[in-house]
Parts: sequence; C-alpha cells; structure tokens
Amino acid sequence: MEYSIKCIGLLTSGGDAPGMNAAIRAVTRTAIFNGIRVKAIYRGYRGLITGEITEFKTENVSNIIQQGGTILKTARCDEFMAPEGRKLAYKNMQKEEIDALIVIGGDGTFTGARIFAQEFNVPIIGIPGTIDNDLYGTDVTIGFDTALNTIIEAVDKIRDTASSHERLFFIEVMGRDAGFLALNSALASGAEAAIIPERETKVDQLEEVIKNGFRKSKNSSIVIVTESKVTGGANGLAARMRKEHPEYDVRVTILGHIQRGGSPSVSDRILASRMGVAAVEALLDEQRSVMIGVVNNEIVNVPFTKAIKYNKPIDEDLLQIIQVLSI
Ligand code: F6P
Repeated sequence: MEYSIKCIGLLTSGGDAPGMNAAIRAVTRTAIFNGIRVKAIYRGYRGLITGEITEFKTENVSNIIQQGGTILKTARCDEFMAPEGRKLAYKNMQKEEIDALIVIGGDGTFTGARIFAQEFNVPIIGIPGTIDNDLYGTDVTIGFDTALNTIIEAVDKIRDTASSHERLFFIEVMGRDAGFLALNSALASGAEAAIIPERETKVDQLEEVIKNGFRKSKNSSIVIVTESKVTGGANGLAARMRKEHPEYDVRVTILGHIQRGGSPSVSDRILASRMGVAAVEALLDEQRSVMIGVVNNEIVNVPFTKAIKYNKPIDEDLLQIIQVLSI
C-alpha cells in the first residue's frame, strides 16, 4: 500500500533548549522544499489536544535561527499521558489533515510519542532537544553545547571571587539525574571536581575530593555538582562540608534557568539544522518511531524504545582527566 505524507505536524515539548528554533526552521523549510505542508502545533502535546494549530510557510521561520527558547512554546502535558487526551489529540490531527508528526524534546516527549504512534498508527520522528544530553543513541542533544558555554561563562566569573577570597564554591548545574552538564563544564572550566549522580553509588565523592588534596596547591576551589537527590545538590554538599571541615570558607551558587536560555552556539545551530533536515528525510524514507541522533558526526536513527529505555553512559575518562588536571 502506498502511503504518502502530505502534511506534517511540528511541536516542541518538555524543557526548552537553545537551538530548538533552528530545528523548527530546518524542519519547516525541508518539508516545504519537498512539497509537504507544515502545521505548527503550539504548547507541545497540549496544543494538539486543544487544537492550537496554524499552518507555517517559510516566512514563519525567518529570523529565528539565532533565537533561544522555542517560538512554538512548550509545556509538559499530563493530559497526553491519559488515553482520553491522546484520543482528542488524534481527532485534531485528522481534522487538520496531519499525516505525521515531528516532535522536538527529551525522553518525556518521546515516551508520549511512542505510545501515541502505537495506539493510532501515526508516523512520528523525534529530534532530541534538551540541555541535559541524557538521551541514549546520540552523542549530543540540541542545547547541550550552548548550556555548557553559559555555565563556563558563569564559572569563570565565580572563580574571580573564589580566588580573591580563597573560598570553596559548590556550583550547582542542571541535568536532572544526568551528570553530563556537570562533567563537561567541570573539565572546560578547570574545576577541581565534578560531583555527578552516576558515580555516587560507587564512592563517597566528597571524601574522595578532599582525600585527593584539593586546595593544597591552590588558594581556591570550585566543585561542580549536578542538581539531584542522589548528589545532595550544592546545598547538601556545602552543609556537609561546613560540618565536617569547618576550616573551609564555603559558598554555594545555583545557576538555575540561566542555563536554558540564550542564543544557540554555532554547534547547536548546525546540529539542529542537520537534525531537522534528517527528521523530514526519515519520514520520507518511511522511518517510524525513531529519534534522530548523531554518532561520530554521522546522522543515525534510534528507535524510541532504545532512546528512552537505555541509560546513556557517562565517559569515565573525563572524570579521570578532571582529577589529573586538578592536582
Ligand atoms: O530537562 C531540562 C531541565 O532543565 C533539567 O535539567 C531540569 O531538571 C528541569 O528541566 C527543570 O524543569 P523546569 O523548567 O520545568 O523546572
């Protein structure tokens, strides 16, 4: 049976990430280039349920490649997790004559997409947009590089104070339960240590940091910590440090949502543009329920099941390098 896609629906869902707009632009223009209509769905799956849908032409995505956030708005939508919500979403797809979806987001987005695709036999392609970089099957996600640049800019500034006052700073970064932002920003900012959830079960990381003699050859220290119950976050670690080692002058900085905003870096713009093009090509190739990934700089298609289920491993070498370079 021949099945041709004449119209795709496009949405962003979950936390915004710099570069999402570049992906929206690439999807829209690639689809139109191939004779496919594009319907922009606002506020993620919620917009699919409530029918906030508008047709996009190439001019709708002009002048957005450099903008952070997402022009389509985003939301985390509980209604879509219920069968009734998905039924309404499907009805709106039919009403709008949308044959397939391209969804930009993280694992929550793809979990919803996988169920929806199975229930209603809808072709769906995912594009990984999250600063956390926690999706299995891709070396990088859209937004990760920009967030890292934002983090190191902040850490560089904090180092001035750390050094002038001879203080120990715990700087908390995002990542939810994944340590990629902490690990990479620690290495790039010359921090003395990265405390990440993936490692907590193996060793007491704080003890390890102290045992390794941090601060011996320096007059200040910066430790990057992933927000997470597992690590205890920057406040948790600082409280422990003050109790166990009152000799240190400890301070905490929580970077928060500053990490999610801003104009996307060159890497994120290129990544998002490549992934946007690849997502439309995957649909034309009759790929279904896959996330676009990049491995060794090559585009790959990763089944949603894998991207969601498997935990992306951290690079243990990076931890080792941070340790060696902080002596
Ligand atoms: O997934 C991206 C992320 O920024 C995480 O790093 C963080 O834990 C979470 O989103 C914060 O979500 P919200 O903006 O809804 O508070």
